Amino acid sequence: MSASAPVQPGNLLLAVAGGIAAYKIPELVRQLRRAGHAVRCVLTEAGGEFVSPLVLQTLSGAPVRSSLFDSGEEGEISHIELADWADLVVVAPATANRIAKLAQGLADDLVGTLLLATRAPVLLVPAMNVNMWSHPATRANAGLLRERGVHFEGPESGELACGWEGEGRMAEPGTIAGRVAILLGGETWKGVRVLVSAGGTREPIDAVRSIANRSSGKMGFAVAEEAARRGAEVVLVAGPCALPTPPGVRRLDVETALEMAAAVEHEFETCQVAVMAAAVADFRPANASLAKIKKEDLAPGAAPRIDLVQNPDILAGISATRGERVVVGFAAESHDLVEAARRKLARKGCDLLVANDISRVDAGFDTDSNAVTFVSPGGEVDELPLLPKVEVAARILDRVEKLREGPR
Ligand code: CTP
Repeated sequence: MSASAPVQPGNLLLAVAGGIAAYKIPELVRQLRRAGHAVRCVLTEAGGEFVSPLVLQTLSGAPVRSSLFDSGEEGEISHIELADWADLVVVAPATANRIAKLAQGLADDLVGTLLLATRAPVLLVPAMNVNMWSHPATRANAGLLRERGVHFEGPESGELACGWEGEGRMAEPGTIAGRVAILLGGETWKGVRVLVSAGGTREPIDAVRSIANRSSGKMGFAVAEEAARRGAEVVLVAGPCALPTPPGVRRLDVETALEMAAAVEHEFETCQVAVMAAAVADFRPANASLAKIKKEDLAPGAAPRIDLVQNPDILAGISATRGERVVVGFAAESHDLVEAARRKLARKGCDLLVANDISRVDAGFDTDSNAVTFVSPGGEVDELPLLPKVEVAARILDRVEKLREGPR
């Protein structure tokens, strides 16, 4: 949950499916209630095997439903009323079966019916064996749901209840509650055009080889997703990466730094906010060969000489012409984080620099979490704890909101 954004209390429908991670749900209910939300729990048949309705009823302060056809339950609040009542539906744990059912639109039980009947946003919190999560069927189902605008939190990596290690652990209750706060935040950015760059650029050496900058694109994609969720019109200029396009985001795929510069400069003209999260290659081969360089054309044991030239600094370029627009840059640093970020901020001239310590293994490249430090032109330094990238994205946009409101 963002420290600066107040929690908007809402009506949460929490569907508990059948997984061992359901043991964490009573704690989640407690945290959601403490944040001021009204919580109503529904259990799938298998969910009832892992957590007792009485516990959930006591903690949520509301009756728990588990059957579509129980006339007593249905008389108290009908399933359609329940679907309409929710501001957000959370499915935790979301099993492979539950994800598959939603992807197929199956409404053969209470939870399935509620998920199709509700018009509220849906957050799935997967938890399962690592092989089930990485199975092509589950990947395809999750991908399809993402495209339809369903939100996902996790799964996280670690030791699994089944004895395996890997991706499949349900996110912790605090992480889920933080995501709920973000999702209930409201569409406060309507009418704002936001430009985000993400991913690393790839600079060709010849027809098959290239120099690439390391970046999963996850941080920039999270910023784009969160800006769109807040109602902004978002354009995402992305270097080569396999991530799905966040719902409601216009994506422009580019490959090289020069292509990224052209797309960013063009889109920046009509934007009010730019967040430059891309890892732009600073250098490119001066003379890329259109054909493949063949070893047989070289002396035995010899390597070709590749001359590099510097790429334009996209962030510095748009910062210099920004006027009233807010520009945020990133900094990847391996040592002297704050001092290096201060110098970079002065060089780039943007309104905020988000500095990453790339020497950490639990944050930065290829991870779902990030530990960043905000550095401002006034010298102000704000070190954030290790947070999921979606939450870092929310904190960045909270900062941008303040910059747009106040004097700079
Ligand atoms: N950036 C850019 N154009 C470049 C290089 C970087 O727009 N040619 C942007 C990145 O998108 C990021 C910020 O500048 O927002 C900092 O990127 P980083 O790689 O940390 O810094 P560099 O400028 O490359 O400096 P150095 O490699 O010397 O640390």
